[in-house]
Amino acid sequence: MTARTSDIEKAAGVLRAGGLVALPTETVYGLGANAEDPAAVSRIFQVKGRPPSHPLIVHIGGAELLDDWVQDVPATARLLAEHFWPGPLTLVLRRGQRVPLEATGGLETVAVRVPDHPVALALLSAFGGGVTAPSANRFGQVSPTTADDVRAELGDAVDFVLDGGPCAVGVESTIVDATGETLTILRPGGVTREDLEAVLGCPLAVPATSRVRVPGQHPSHYAPRARVVLVEPEKVVAEAELAQELGHRVGVFLPAAFAGAEVKAHAVVAVPGSMAAYARGLYGFLRELDQRGCDLIVASLPVEEGLGLAIANRLRRAAGPRPTV
Ligand code: TXA
Ligand code: MG
Repeated sequence: MTARTSDIEKAAGVLRAGGLVALPTETVYGLGANAEDPAAVSRIFQVKGRPPSHPLIVHIGGAELLDDWVQDVPATARLLAEHFWPGPLTLVLRRGQRVPLEATGGLETVAVRVPDHPVALALLSAFGGGVTAPSANRFGQVSPTTADDVRAELGDAVDFVLDGGPCAVGVESTIVDATGETLTILRPGGVTREDLEAVLGCPLAVPATSRVRVPGQHPSHYAPRARVVLVEPEKVVAEAELAQELGHRVGVFLPAAFAGAEVKAHAVVAVPGSMAAYARGLYGFLRELDQRGCDLIVASLPVEEGLGLAIANRLRRAAGPRPTV
């Protein structure tokens, strides 16, 4: 925890005054506003360049506060909240009266989570209310995992940046829809499907990653400037060298199985063998290859189990079709 008590107090004051605070969480940095202040919430959309129909997550200080923000919590959702909060799990539930429609993109449901970061929890406690926060990046771009990433991404558009060091998880929270008959994973993330199923004692519905359609989710998202191309792990080196020969400035995500291989490319990132380390580093690697001037990134998908499911989801979306302008 790098932020001091005086920083926390200052950030809480900014929220009370209707301002925007970038805050660390265990997943990625968020761009936060007082969840009950529609004008402040609307500013989030302006700063991010995000369409106002895309719903936000309300961050709260503890599982015991859940019923202040939502209605009709099913027993299964309560079980998950008690087990995984604070932590990288977001629950979509029926909207309570305190949540303005500005925060939910007009929906009668709301996404809620308790972040597992001492600075975020200290801020929520000092502030006393809920904080709506999307990831603190411009719409469609790579999420920030350090305070410096936030400053590079948003600059003066944010009133205060709370520095809580690098994010420990590195990919966003797992989103579970608890509004229907059965629980469904809307976005894989920091809590694995296997962990959720172990607590629930039954399998969870996961729409195929490529087909996940949620308000606020687009094919191209989490995307660096460089184009991302996904190939089989054993083809990464050959494809990267071919593209480099053809004149691209190629960045390579070198799979751990090929660690130490010589690659004739512009920049090489050694993908960690541990999925936790890969998730923690993923967005930083994408940013690094952008900063080094790559125009093409060649990568492969990890095995889609555990945190590998979330990593593969983000890589697929980074490689997704870009909107044509
Ligand atoms: O780890 C995280 O979840 C980070 C940190 C800052 O907490 N936040 C984050 O927020 O990733 P954002 O806005 O980038 O993504 C939240 C996603 C939205 O894109 C949307 O797909 C989904 O949550 N969402 C929010 N409210 C929803 C709702 N009522 N129904 C369905 N999906 C919802
Ligand atoms: Mg985001």
